[in-house]
Amino acid sequence: MNRPAPLTLHVNGATYRVNAAADTPLLYLLRNDLALNGPKFGCGLGECGACTVLLDGMPTRSCVTTAKVALGREITTLEGLGTCAALHPVQQAFIEEQAAQCGYCLNGMIMTAKALLDRDPHPSVETIQRELSRNLCRCGTHVEIVRAVQRAAELLAAQSALPNGVHA
Ligand code: FES
Ligand code: FES
Repeated sequence: MNRPAPLTLHVNGATYRVNAAADTPLLYLLRNDLALNGPKFGCGLGECGACTVLLDGMPTRSCVTTAKVALGREITTLEGLGTCAALHPVQQAFIEEQAAQCGYCLNGMIMTAKALLDRDPHPSVETIQRELSRNLCRCGTHVEIVRAVQRAAELLAAQSALPNGVHA
């Protein structure tokens, strides 16, 4: 039997080649082949948002997105935002506002919030609620999550006000 040709994926600024069929869900390749465990398996049906990654900056449910769809596009996972030593402002804000209980939904919340803030740096509460409305949180930390996105907007605004090359 012929083995499938390796797939080339661009993830978090690096290029990877993985041996998999082109119709493999992107989530499986990220978690199982690349050990990127930020995106979570929740429903597996595109309903909960736990598996969200950014594809060319757009929030995308990786459980229902095949590898073929991601070829030639820039994939960003939670690991691509910041590190423990240098958190991304959205990650920092979620910690400051204690927006997690079990934390299972937070990958999707943070990636969706990142995409929102990239295109709307000062979203209203209504906009935040609308953008996150398809990301499910079974723990009910919605109030803290909305506050975290507002806080992230403040942190990003403060960061962009600094001179080039200076980090808070
Ligand atoms: S695991 Fe992908 S949307 Fe629920
Ligand atoms: S914090 Fe538990 S699902 Fe959201």
